[in-house]
Amino acid sequence: MRAACNWLLLLLLLCETAILNIRTSLTSSLSCLALAVGMLLSLNLQASEKMAQEIAERTKPVGAVCIEGEPCAAQAASAAKPSGPRSGEAIYSASCTSCHAAGVAGAPIFGDVAQWAPRIAKGVETLYANSINGINAMPPKGLCMDCSDEEIQATVDYMLDAAR
Ligand code: HEC
Repeated sequence: MRAACNWLLLLLLLCETAILNIRTSLTSSLSCLALAVGMLLSLNLQASEKMAQEIAERTKPVGAVCIEGEPCAAQAASAAKPSGPRSGEAIYSASCTSCHAAGVAGAPIFGDVAQWAPRIAKGVETLYANSINGINAMPPKGLCMDCSDEEIQATVDYMLDAAR
């Protein structure tokens, strides 16, 4: 803010010089003043935006905000990897929801009974295998490369439970 004030002072000085020495028309002194005020407003705005960002940064709860797809989500997923297998729900939220929540690329939508019925009819073993190896636009293991086969199976079970 000090820099902003210095700028304003300088501008006001310039305005005064313009008014006193050059004695240009009233309109040009007015526009000079308007410019100074405009500069001050925009500097103020920038300063308060920056301040808001800084406050948000400082008050951000530790490890609370991590949107899926951001590098921090991958870190959180691997850091939080427990010694035992992760739940189907956890893996679904971390790896599968990006496509299966909205039906990206024709993925059967989570919880949509009608879309899952013909899949379920193929038999759960086929669904396990296709999830692990991939099928068409469905990537192997839904791109969860550190998922074990068992974890993928648990995730498929979780998805099927929601769609029956
Ligand atoms: C990049 C997008 C994408 C991701 C991520 C993804 N899927 Fe899929 N999934 C698809 C698409 C597309 C299909 C439909 C494939 C087809 O039948 O053509 C599909 C189909 C499936 C099917 C049905 C397979 C079949 O044989 O009918 C299962 C089960 C499945 N996904 C499980 C998962 C699981 C579990 C995960 C997470 C570990 C996951 N998917 C992550 C896109 C995705």
